Amino acid sequence: MKYIQLLNKIAKVGTDKLDPAKYTLATEVANPDGIMVRSAVMHDMTFGDNLLAIARAGAGVNNIPVERCAEEGIVVFNTPGANANGVKELTLCALFLAARDVVGGISWANGLSGDDVAKQVEKGKSNFAGTELKGKTLGIIGLGAIGGMVANVAVHLGMNVVGCDPFLSVEAAWNLNHHVTKAATYDEIYAVADYITLHVPATKDTKGMINAENIAKMKDGVKIVNLARADLVNSADLKVALETGKVSRYVTDFPTPETVNVPGIVAIPHLGASTEESEDNCAVMAARELDEYLENGNIQNSVNYPSVSMPRSGNLRICCLHKNIPDVLRKITMVIANDGANIENMTNKSRGDVAYTIVDIAGSITPETEELIRTIDGMIRVRLIG
Ligand code: MLT
Repeated sequence: MKYIQLLNKIAKVGTDKLDPAKYTLATEVANPDGIMVRSAVMHDMTFGDNLLAIARAGAGVNNIPVERCAEEGIVVFNTPGANANGVKELTLCALFLAARDVVGGISWANGLSGDDVAKQVEKGKSNFAGTELKGKTLGIIGLGAIGGMVANVAVHLGMNVVGCDPFLSVEAAWNLNHHVTKAATYDEIYAVADYITLHVPATKDTKGMINAENIAKMKDGVKIVNLARADLVNSADLKVALETGKVSRYVTDFPTPETVNVPGIVAIPHLGASTEESEDNCAVMAARELDEYLENGNIQNSVNYPSVSMPRSGNLRICCLHKNIPDVLRKITMVIANDGANIENMTNKSRGDVAYTIVDIAGSITPETEELIRTIDGMIRVRLIG
C-alpha cells in the first residue's frame, strides 16, 4: 500500500484514478510516498524518507522547493495545459475589463437610486466609455499552452498579435495561428503593444520583469494583464506608471496589499483555473503522472527531472536518479553485469545537473549489488520496482 497526502482539495475525478487497492489517500500522513498539492506553500516542509514524488495540480510550481526536491530525489510534476482553457477565458475577460471600465460602471450603477435610474444611467454612462480590442496590438509574453490559446483567440477578435517566447516548443509553434507575429525579444513587444499579457512562470529571471525600466519602453497608456504570478510585476514601479498615465490599466488575478483599491488596477481573486473543468483536468493529469511514476518509474511532465518513459520488460526495474556527471551509466551496468543479471532494456536522459536512468533486467540482483548501485558516485536515489 502506498500513502498519498492531499495538501489541498483535489477534484474527486482525479483522486478516483488512484486505485484504492494500491493507494491510501489522506490529508494527514506522517511519511507519504506521494503528495498531491494545489496552492499549499511547501517551502518550509521537511520531507520524509518515503517521499518519491509531488504532483502539482496546476502549472505554476513556485509554491514547491523544486531544486531541493531534485537534490533529495523527489520528482516534482505539474500539469501543463490542463487548465489552459480556463486561464485563457479569464485572460479574455481581463482584456475586456482593461478596454472598458465595466468594473467602475457596475459599482457606480449599484449606487444609483430613485425613479429615474435609467435617466441617470444615460447621463453618466460616458464616464465609463472605453475602446474596442479590434485593431489594437496585443503583446503576449510567453507562448506556452495559455499564451498560445490567447494569441489565437485574439487574432479572431481582430487584434494584431505579437508574441515572444524564448523557450517556444515546436508543438506550441505548430498550434499558433499564422497571423501571430513572432518577436525576437520582449523589447519588441514593449515598443508596439497597446495591451500586454503575461504568460510566463515566476522564476529568478522573470521576477520583477515589469519594472520602471521596461515600462519606460512601452507605449503611453499601455494596458497590462497579469494572470500569471504577482512576482512578475514590480508593484511600486507599476503604481508610479499608473499615476503618470504611462500605464492606463492593470488587471491581475493576484491581488496583493499593494494592488488592491488602487485607481487603474482591477484586482480579482486568483480565479484563472478555478473552473470545474480545469480543476478536474488538473487533478486527473496529476494523479496519472503520480501513479505512472510510483508504479512504473516513468516520468512525464516533471519540472525537476527529465521526461523518461520505457515500456516494462524483464522482471525487475531499477530506477536511478543521479547527478549528470560522467561514468554513472557505465558503473550501473558494470555492477549489474558483475551480478550476472541480463539487461533487457535501458534508457537514460539528463536535464541540467540531474539525470534519470531506468534499467529493466531479467532475473534479480542481490542486496549487495543494490547497495553497490546506491553508493555509485553521484547517485541520488535508487528504487527497485518488481
Ligand atoms: C496554475 O499555476 O496552474 C494557475 O495559476 C492556477 C493555479 O494556481 O492553480
